[in-house]
Amino acid sequence: SATRYEAEASPAVCTGTIDSNWSGYSGTGFCNGTNAVGAYAQFTVNASTAGTATLLVRFANGVATTRPASLLVNGSAVQTPSFEGTGAWSTWVTKTLTVTLNAGGNTVRLNPTTASGLPNIDYLEVTTP
Ligand code: GCU
Ligand code: CA
Repeated sequence: SATRYEAEASPAVCTGTIDSNWSGYSGTGFCNGTNAVGAYAQFTVNASTAGTATLLVRFANGVATTRPASLLVNGSAVQTPSFEGTGAWSTWVTKTLTVTLNAGGNTVRLNPTTASGLPNIDYLEVTTP
């Protein structure tokens, strides 16, 4: 089953501001990360059993330039997803990532690797088997 973790809901962390000025987000807002290397969005997700999980990252990128990031699970970099332009800050899309989680709580962090920072991040939805 899938569980949605909103970027604005504690214990999620947003190095930036929780904004609501671009429509179409889920919940009460989204993470507008500071446009800087390492200004991250972090989620704490629960898995009942260890194993492969599917992550859906919902984001908007209103500029044409792709914004690359490092994906860290429990502090280890595991992938380098890139967030393409979506055409407008109010156009939200999901990106699917597959990771391995531990049983119990896991931190999932998106760390931008360029000075442009992350796209705006709405939520992380996690499906575990
Ligand atoms: C604009 C936009 C923000 C976005 C930012 C960015 O300022 O309003 O929502 O986060 O661009 O470039 O990251
Ligand atoms: Ca931003």
